[in-house]
Amino acid sequence: MLNLLRSEISEIILNKELEVEMRLQLVCQFLKKNVPHYDWVGFYFKNGDKNELKLGPFAGEPTDHLIIPFGKGICGQVALSNQNFVVPDVKAQDNYIACSLTVKSEIVVPLFVNGENVGQIDIDSKTIDPFTVDDERFLEYVNQEVAKIL
Ligand code: SME
Repeated sequence: MLNLLRSEISEIILNKELEVEMRLQLVCQFLKKNVPHYDWVGFYFKNGDKNELKLGPFAGEPTDHLIIPFGKGICGQVALSNQNFVVPDVKAQDNYIACSLTVKSEIVVPLFVNGENVGQIDIDSKTIDPFTVDDERFLEYVNQEVAKIL
């Protein structure tokens, strides 16, 4: 199912008529709308030279967490580990930053440009344990496409 979305994702990302920021915004909206278990979709990027993440384009409820220090929460841990982080049940995590009480699970996949971890895509779900290896491969694909325009 997710693989059917790949061509549309690439079309959005490679559309040179739109600003990069707008394309990322459209990617977030597209994913939230088309994948039932994606309830909040956003990009975080390394904030200049600082060891912190800054919220970029997102779709879903606004969050208070515009800045996340490296090491803090799921996102901050991925900034340091360079690894995908799948959280089937957020209640089982002690280093977790809650954005909304309705969120049950989360997946964060790092985004690499020339091998450097420059940010990540972060997805929250209101469903418990919805993410599979298919989500990981699909979101890695999304990030590889995004990396081409950064
Ligand atoms: N839950 C994340 C924080 C970002 S919000 O989900 C938008 C974390 O623990 O890093």
